[in-house]
Amino acid sequence: MRERAEAAGQGHVFRFWDELDAAGRERLSGQVASIDFEEVARLGALLSAGPPPAPNRFEPPDTFPLERGAELEERAREARARGAERFAAGAVGYVLVAGGQGSRLGYDGPKGCFEVGPVTGRTLFGWLAGRIAAARERHGSVAPWYVMTSATNDAATRAFFAEQDHFGLGAENVRFFTQAMLPALDSEGRIVMSAPDELFLAPNGHGGTLAALSDSGCLDHARERGVETFSYFQVDSPLARPADTLFVGLHALAGAQMSAKVAAKRDADEKVGVLGLVDGKLGCIEYSDLPDDLRHAQTDDGKLLFRAGNIAAHVLERSFVEELTRGELRLPWHLARKEMPMLNEAGTIEKRPGVKFETFVFDALGYAQRSVVLEIDRALEFSPVKNADGADSPASCRADLTRLFRTWQAVAGVPVSEHAVEVAPEFAETEEEFLARMPAEPRRVEGAGVVYD
Ligand code: UD1
Repeated sequence: MRERAEAAGQGHVFRFWDELDAAGRERLSGQVASIDFEEVARLGALLSAGPPPAPNRFEPPDTFPLERGAELEERAREARARGAERFAAGAVGYVLVAGGQGSRLGYDGPKGCFEVGPVTGRTLFGWLAGRIAAARERHGSVAPWYVMTSATNDAATRAFFAEQDHFGLGAENVRFFTQAMLPALDSEGRIVMSAPDELFLAPNGHGGTLAALSDSGCLDHARERGVETFSYFQVDSPLARPADTLFVGLHALAGAQMSAKVAAKRDADEKVGVLGLVDGKLGCIEYSDLPDDLRHAQTDDGKLLFRAGNIAAHVLERSFVEELTRGELRLPWHLARKEMPMLNEAGTIEKRPGVKFETFVFDALGYAQRSVVLEIDRALEFSPVKNADGADSPASCRADLTRLFRTWQAVAGVPVSEHAVEVAPEFAETEEEFLARMPAEPRRVEGAGVVYD
């Protein structure tokens, strides 16, 4: 292993070997064994390549809009029916990406264990599991749920699901798979060490989902279970709708390979990626990469021109994922340059510039021959928990949930709660479902609010 590292110009990873105890040697050699040095060399070559060229053309995408006339409404009805058929047939499996480090939230543990229910403190995993359980009831079918973790949170995530009895979904219907980790590199392309017996490894981005689905055997499992389509969603929004018949139905009617949901950006500076045609192909430009002039560009009627905010909910055909993971097709690398604590030659930690490498799942959109971009109402399905406070925080998310559920109370003609309101996903996912369940007396939780469950 040492020879391999030296041949790759990474011999420094063993610099402190002689001083390590048995446990330290085991930890380090285990990590080094997982390194693909050829890949590290390819990543190193990117360091001097400079940023990727800006697109020549960026245009707003065609969307299936939120405001629709009679014709599109008819199409939506047809799509919902088709989507419902797909769910009833058990042809749609769920893919949750929960391998991120959640560093902005500053929560020590898998982000999905974070409690956001405004009344009950239901966790993010609990919300998403509830939506899957509800879909099972609604369509009378069972489909597998693939949960992507990373080495840092895999054990804790599995333990949490076991503790929660897999939210009643059955352990055989929840499959965990782990994304790969990659070393960070310093500005000379050397693997960063965070301790004498430890490499600085980070998850390879949610683009790693596709390879990880394949490497873990989940794609084979999906094929065996009759799953033809994946509904993909992130761990951070309790309002995510993994079983949206409209989305899956539009995707199916269009014969699409990969589709995306968007919400109109709140303002020019909202930290969401923007979907659009990048030199003619559907893609997403990340908020950090969108030049100022494009960020602020407006239409004649004063809306943001590039407002198709990526909410990171996708539908992907299994065959498309197979195609992408079989051959030499590679998603582009995104480089995150930042100061990071690293071990220096003297064996002490200092902050120096380093680079982390990630691929992004939305870059696969460009490989799809057909896609649907569905515009959704953020009040109904997008309120992510990203930051400890301010926008997109636990507080803003809880407030959004209560605000939405109060509108349902109002439409149902029941007294609108002054305190927090929580509608369990098993009770209702939409206003229509809520109305259909009424009249129902909410459960009152002393001092905290009311719950419909
Ligand atoms: C992401 C999208 C952004 C979108 C926004 C919507 C990227 C690069 N950008 O931004 O376009 O508008 O969500 O909320 O993703 N994850 C993994 N493994 C990883 C990295 C992330 O599983 O290696 C998962 C996280 O657990 C999380 C999701 O991917 O569920 C998003 O990651 P995060 O880093 O929070 O993305 P954002 O910067 O918020």
